[in-house]
Amino acid sequence: MSKLSIRNVEKTFPGRNSTAPTRALVPTSLEVADNDFITILGPSGCGKSTLLRIVAGLETPTAGEVLLEGKAVSGPGPDRGMVFQSYTLFPWLTVRDNVCFGLRERGLPRAEQLAIADRFLAQVGLKGFENHHPAQLSGGMQQRTALARALANDPKMLLLDEPFGALDHQTRELMQELLLGIWEADRKTVMFVTHDIDEAIFMASRVVVMSARPGRIKCDIPIELPHPRSYKVKTTPEFAAYKERLTEEIRVETIKAVTMER
Ligand SMILES: Nc1ncnc2c1ncn2[C@@H]1O[C@H](COP(=O)(O)OP(=O)(O)O)[C@@H](O)[C@H]1O
Ligand SMILES: [Mg+2]
Repeated sequence: MSKLSIRNVEKTFPGRNSTAPTRALVPTSLEVADNDFITILGPSGCGKSTLLRIVAGLETPTAGEVLLEGKAVSGPGPDRGMVFQSYTLFPWLTVRDNVCFGLRERGLPRAEQLAIADRFLAQVGLKGFENHHPAQLSGGMQQRTALARALANDPKMLLLDEPFGALDHQTRELMQELLLGIWEADRKTVMFVTHDIDEAIFMASRVVVMSARPGRIKCDIPIELPHPRSYKVKTTPEFAAYKERLTEEIRVETIKAVTMER
């Protein structure tokens, strides 16, 4: 049985006033196995976030269904840990209390909350920053806090929507290594949305390419680079071969997306 089944999911956003409805996704199906690290790659506006938000239960599909461990998804839940591009920490809470948030909601004893929060904060390299507030942190550190918060709830899946998109290039590469290292240690099931080809290949066990709007899955490519992966893999001929293929796939879709907009 798959960890996650996306079955014939469609999404059309209704138009407002005189504008036409937007067909964001045509029937889309995808099976994600336990421990898979899937990256969803596609040009801007192709429906990546819509698909991820449907899996998160933040958006209702127009048709089709999503099953997590065989159970229909009908809304958001702590079994799916989310990290978005924009910083979503509570500014009035310390780093530690941000990470404790879901644990407190679940009614865990305070001592247990703190032990779990500090363990995950150490894992993302934020030991010593537990009592800081988000405004005192760099963008990369805020996203590491968001990642620790998502992991602390021990979700069945991690859902990430361009989580490193607002970071500078160097920080972004370090964050990719951090997330990949966590996955290599714990083998969480991950669905990661990006429009960055290098990012998609580097972390993934499968890259799923989406077509220009209306989105559908265009191809699904297993990435057979060995683990543990370091940044050095990016300069190998194997990596270059994946990059060449995906660059071609994405280029075609980006041209389609741009000409549709005109
Ligand atoms: N809430 C919404 N209402 C209307 N249209 C939307 C809404 N959310 C997304 N869309 C449209 O659906 C399409 C896909 O959007 P999105 O999933 O955000 O793409 P991506 O994440 O790949 O850039 C776009 O044309 C976008 O304008
Ligand atoms: Mg998006």
